[in-house]
Amino acid sequence: MQAITVRDRDAGVAGMSLTDMPYPHAAENDVIVRVYAAGFTPGELDWPATWTDRAGRDRTPSVPGHELSGVVVELGYGTTGLSVGQRVFGLADWARDGTLAEYTAVEARNLAPLPADIDHTLAAALPISGLTAWQGLFDHGRLTTGQNVLIHGAAGAVGSIAVQLAREAGARVIGTGRSSAREEALALGVDTFIDLETGKLEEAGEADLVFDVIGGDILDRSAALVRPGGTLVTIAMPPTVRPKDGRAVFFVVEPDRARLTDLAARLRDGRLKPVVGAVRPLAEAPSAFAPGKRTPGRTIIRVTDGGTGDRS
Ligand SMILES: NC(=O)c1ccc[n+]([C@@H]2O[C@H](COP(=O)([O-])OP(=O)(O)OC[C@H]3O[C@@H](n4cnc5c(N)ncnc54)[C@H](OP(=O)(O)O)[C@@H]3O)[C@@H](O)[C@H]2O)c1
Repeated sequence: MQAITVRDRDAGVAGMSLTDMPYPHAAENDVIVRVYAAGFTPGELDWPATWTDRAGRDRTPSVPGHELSGVVVELGYGTTGLSVGQRVFGLADWARDGTLAEYTAVEARNLAPLPADIDHTLAAALPISGLTAWQGLFDHGRLTTGQNVLIHGAAGAVGSIAVQLAREAGARVIGTGRSSAREEALALGVDTFIDLETGKLEEAGEADLVFDVIGGDILDRSAALVRPGGTLVTIAMPPTVRPKDGRAVFFVVEPDRARLTDLAARLRDGRLKPVVGAVRPLAEAPSAFAPGKRTPGRTIIRVTDGGTGDRS
């Protein structure tokens, strides 16, 4: 089968190449998925799990990409809950070969059924951003109706989903970003937008929850904006400055089948729209993710456009 692989830790995205790889092995509780659409986060080339397995052994050449939407073609021993021919989407394991491939082996519990009327391209844009936004707002941030939430990077992949979920939950949303993100953030439903290039972050006032995706100075300054008893949640880096009277949480997104199912329901009825930018074929993944000017929104790799879930 064809896959994008990386071998050289220092090469970055330039080290990605289209390669022939063996068809994956379905371990216990796995499914093999024929990948229709895949997501990739350039930052994952810095993660240790991209280069070594859970025991710390070199696993190159490795296949990057951790989001997928596709069709189950094989079940491993003991796998329950999914069946061959079923449409699924979800989050592939961090320390195994990923989703920029025609086929991938994934633990079944990391996937959720995908309704027939949701396109694979949209579904592949949702697992990381959707689960991260949900877990950040509600599991770690404890956001409830009527509260104020400040969401950094409101027009980005995670931020845009967080804005939509927070609005649906009845929160008042203040979004931030660059000047160029203003229109997109307002269209997504932020009540107020703060332009981090020209405006003052401190004008946001206090919030029950600050959800940071940027890190650095913006994260440090955000601690002072947390209302007493509130929470600073960040997905960018462990915080060094903490709210005086509040919690500070850094977390890494976890797979969650039930939550993926909730997110799919929202996609289906139009409550949630991931911002998809470019859609490119597998062979163009290296150029699609090359540094430089990229189309705003998630770049999705469309691995296959048709087929019946056959093994080839
Ligand atoms: N811990 C976890 O589990 C987890 C999960 C998902 C993502 N992440 C990480 O979280 C970060 C955000 O992910 P994402 O997928 O949402 O990225 P993204 O789509 O690039 O969104 C980030 C948004 O923030 C904006 N931004 C970045 N720096 C800014 C600055 N200094 N001032 C104003 N706006 C700024 C970006 O604008 P531009 O596009 O104009 O730069 C973009 O709109 C990444 O570092 C990612 O690796 C972590």
